[in-house]
Amino acid sequence: MEEPIDPPTSTTPRVRRSPGIRLKLVGFLIPLIVLLVLGMALAVVTVTNRSVRNDLIQRGVATSRIVALSARWSLLSDDNAAVYNLAVETHRSSPDIEYVAVIDPGGRILGHNDPRELGKRFAPSFRIVQLGGFVETQADDVRRNGTEMLEFATAILHRGQRIGNVSVGFSKKTLVDAQRKVRRSIAAVALGVLALAMLGALALSSFITTPIKRLMSAIKVISTGKTFHRIPVASGDEFGELLRSFNRMAETILTQQSALKEYADRLEDAYLGMVRVVAASIEARDPYTIGHSTRVAMMACALGRQLGMGEEELGHLEKAALFHDVGKIGMPDDVLLKEERLSHGELDVMRRHPGEGAEILRMAPFLDRYAAIVEAHHEWYDGTGYPEGRKDGEIPVHAQMIALADAYDAMTTTRPYRQALTNVGAIESILEYSGTQFSPELTDAFVKLLRESPPMPDPDWKGMAL
Ligand SMILES: [Fe+2]
Repeated sequence: MEEPIDPPTSTTPRVRRSPGIRLKLVGFLIPLIVLLVLGMALAVVTVTNRSVRNDLIQRGVATSRIVALSARWSLLSDDNAAVYNLAVETHRSSPDIEYVAVIDPGGRILGHNDPRELGKRFAPSFRIVQLGGFVETQADDVRRNGTEMLEFATAILHRGQRIGNVSVGFSKKTLVDAQRKVRRSIAAVALGVLALAMLGALALSSFITTPIKRLMSAIKVISTGKTFHRIPVASGDEFGELLRSFNRMAETILTQQSALKEYADRLEDAYLGMVRVVAASIEARDPYTIGHSTRVAMMACALGRQLGMGEEELGHLEKAALFHDVGKIGMPDDVLLKEERLSHGELDVMRRHPGEGAEILRMAPFLDRYAAIVEAHHEWYDGTGYPEGRKDGEIPVHAQMIALADAYDAMTTTRPYRQALTNVGAIESILEYSGTQFSPELTDAFVKLLRESPPMPDPDWKGMAL
């Protein structure tokens, strides 16, 4: 069982789809195989046809010569009956012999398997192709009486004199049948070879593309930030080595990324700690606000939970709430601690703290994500807040939630110039500002939370958590 490695999250790049390697390989290999098999089948058919035809020619030549040799003595002794019998018996000897004729030098038929032909003149056939001479035998591809056949003519010689001729016709049906049979056999074999070759091409393309697909899948897993599992490798070839190298590389990268993330988290924690100290030191300047940021963070998170926010978002909200008044660090004591109403100039100084807080957070790249929230925590829903007068959807929702918690904590904390409000009193006050300072939807959710689980049972209580 391989141990999963959790990589850091990253964005997924868009990749243009194109035909896969497998399709390209199959598209190349299959036409190539079809051409090769067809070419081979054609060559085998041609060679085999020629061989079958040559066999028939040799048989025809041999038959014609044997008849010529046998007829010679019968002709010399004028034994026409023997010549006739020779023709009949030869014709009977093989079903593919169309006719056998023995002819005298004047062209008259002396012997024929068909007795009706005896005494007639031997008619010349229509030659289609001259097949060639084989010693004293001439072979031709002819048409006689509308039938195509192979004809073999042999001169009957005696002491150098031609005393007659033999003509034997062989049916081409046997040749055509044999060639057809050969073609069918070769076609069947070719189809079998083609099917096997196609399966082989598919197997080969699969063999090549499977490791590539695994590699692509693993890269996708890493790039989308999902949990990476080592690619299983069984083969010892180059592909196997490639996958093993990739596994090693991925583990190295992920280990380094993990270490970097840990380092970044530690750095963030360190900075967070520093900002907490700063926030605490501001609150320490005013004893009445000690623990204010922590209480605001807790109430904002309780509201976030009520609204169904996830843990990651709640963590984000909590940090933003802890930082919300960090800009007060630069505020002079005579403004920060003043118990009477602030002058216009002092108000201006006071109203600079959201912007200055955002500036402090922007100094650290990983805290700059909280800057916009801190900057907007004194904006009002109706656009009459500060510093920019943004309204409704222009104000980050986390800033609106912090504003509610901030107001509630301020109202329920005893100040030198006024007593703290009770939970009920604070709820009434917050409802008064629903639709002006606060979003009505958020106000309703916050009030529901306060009514269901009031955070302040004692009017002298100075906060939920210190
Ligand atoms: Fe503030």
